[in-house]
Amino acid sequence: MAGAEIAAQAAFKTALRRFTSTICLITTEWEGARYGMAATAVQSVTADPPTLLVCINQSASISGPLKLTGKFAVNMLHLSHAPLVPLFSGKLKGEERFAHGEWIAAGGVPILADAQAAFVCSLNSAVTVGTHDVVLGEVIEARFIENIAPLLYEDGKLVRSAALIDAAA
Ligand SMILES: Cc1cc2nc3c(=O)[nH]c(=O)nc-3n(C[C@H](O)[C@H](O)[C@H](O)COP(=O)(O)O)c2cc1C
Repeated sequence: MAGAEIAAQAAFKTALRRFTSTICLITTEWEGARYGMAATAVQSVTADPPTLLVCINQSASISGPLKLTGKFAVNMLHLSHAPLVPLFSGKLKGEERFAHGEWIAAGGVPILADAQAAFVCSLNSAVTVGTHDVVLGEVIEARFIENIAPLLYEDGKLVRSAALIDAAA
């Protein structure tokens, strides 16, 4: 890569840190083994048909199993799930990750029982862009809890949301 390209990529990565995102655990099950990873690259696409997209590095351990089984879950984390993030992003491997958190099976994939929101998806299609697959999933089932306190990721840190104070109140 030329110097200008390296500088542009560094600026791109720094600019990306200005996104504030919810954190999700993407999960699947293949041949009796569970796989999961932390992800911020998750987005709703359309409500008709209900569709989410997730960007998954092809080197991640969940990548192959997810495409083989054709189903996965998107588990949006609540503040109470902060300890799960390092475990699902490399500190633990494979099944060890699921010893933490309350996991139940839904539609053949693991979902976090007290997720802020959980979506069971059927793999619709995937497009490869560089290192990542952009995975589109049709939502088969959506669940949520009433206590709204999503775990957020901003500038490399776990943070919380706060309502703006209405000065007129
Ligand atoms: C906050 C956070 C967000 C992440 N978002 C993504 C993502 O959207 N897509 C992705 O492929 N990896 C993402 N990662 C990296 C994976 O969680 C990490 O590489 C994971 O360990 C890969 O799985 P493996 O260890 O099972 O191979 C993220 C990591 C963190 C800490």
